[in-house]
Amino acid sequence: MDSFIINGGPRLRGRATISGSKNASLPIMAATLLCEGQTVLRGVPELADVAALIKLLQKLGVSVTRQPDGALVLQVEDEMDCHANYDLVRRMRASVCVMGPLLGKRGKAQVAMPGGCAIGDRPINLHIMGLRQLGAEAELIGGDVYLRSKRLTGAEIFLGGPFGSTVTGTANVMMAATVARGRTVIEAAACEPEVVDLANFLNKCGARIEGHGTPRITIDGVSQLKGCEYQVIPDRIEAGTFMMASAITNGELRLSNCRLEHMLAVVDRLRAVGVNIEKEDNEVVVSSARRLEPVEVTTQTYPGFPTDLQAQIMALLCLADGNSIISERIYPDRFLHVAELGRMGARLRREGPTVMVEGVKRLTGAPVMASDLRASAALVLAGLIAKGQTRVNRVYHIDRGYERIDEKLASIGADIKRVPQSDEE
Ligand code: EPU
Repeated sequence: MDSFIINGGPRLRGRATISGSKNASLPIMAATLLCEGQTVLRGVPELADVAALIKLLQKLGVSVTRQPDGALVLQVEDEMDCHANYDLVRRMRASVCVMGPLLGKRGKAQVAMPGGCAIGDRPINLHIMGLRQLGAEAELIGGDVYLRSKRLTGAEIFLGGPFGSTVTGTANVMMAATVARGRTVIEAAACEPEVVDLANFLNKCGARIEGHGTPRITIDGVSQLKGCEYQVIPDRIEAGTFMMASAITNGELRLSNCRLEHMLAVVDRLRAVGVNIEKEDNEVVVSSARRLEPVEVTTQTYPGFPTDLQAQIMALLCLADGNSIISERIYPDRFLHVAELGRMGARLRREGPTVMVEGVKRLTGAPVMASDLRASAALVLAGLIAKGQTRVNRVYHIDRGYERIDEKLASIGADIKRVPQSDEE
């Protein structure tokens, strides 16, 4: 297990290129289970989560190779195995994205229930309910969900839950419905750009999907999908994290491969904080040169402010000139970073799904523990500006979702080093 050692202080300056989106890549990779022939995916980032899904897809009979230019080539070779076991799913929840494609293409899927994780309960009841409405039989045996159906049939499905729409649930039902008989309508579908990217990929493979990007998606089933070449969208969460890295150090960054139209809520909050964000040619320029203003932030489903940037904006607001309020509407318990930021001198008070942030003049470096992917990113951001040295332990969490973040930050001026964690930690 590695740690990051960060000496806070340097202003970040220069250019960074945003990688392809993790949360678009994972379901698109899973969708290749539906396809005949070869698929070539460009922009799939090199991440621990991508490596974990490659391992699962290989077990399910897919050949996967990385070309020297970085493109990922996938092709189904054998359709016998339909089991995503607990060992794989427990480590990487997005493994549940194989459920819809396996059921649609192979007529059965056996997928371990993922269980809870550091950010909350995260059930998959809506995924199973949606697949049942397409005609699948589902039962739970020994912690695995067994789904079966000779041929799925289109249906009208309401996919909303207590916290709004579900991203990977919409992906699972949409993927299964592409090869179902007749028309499926998903109501209360997730509108996230990653769902749109998956639908665009499926359409390029021959699917007939309309309405993606709106809460009502219509899918007319086809008999077969064929692999294609596809470029995955940039990672809006990585882009938001780099914008905040720039803001927290009062720096100036030029980000390429960054789609502002996917991040309007983030841009809105950052501008309210006092960060300048402008498009120049093909780049996004992020700068700020003064003390940051406090703001209110509420996480919501897209196009609202993403929960995957809640921890990072909290780190930023720790240094604002006044009191901010952050409310978490997607994962009410996603606050493990609160106590760790507190170790660095942040003044935070949590009440249920809300945290009051009292801005302080400075944070102080400390050893802190990464608990999940985005919480770890928040601790790195805090470390970039904290006085003295911060050691972020267990950075395998951050390696799950940020491509070489230490190298990227070092290349724009951060004093950050990856070191092997010592035995006693
Ligand atoms: N929910 C249910 N029942 C379900 C599914 C979800 O009640 O069957 C609830 C969840 O507990 C949560 C809300 O609905 O309160 C939204 O969850 P969603 O299903 O949308 O989350 P997800 O699909 O499991 C994806 C991302 C997450 C991101 C969320 C929310 C991927 C691979 N993961 O998860 O990303 O936080 O959407 O935007 O796309 C991350 O990248 O760090 C990450 C956690």
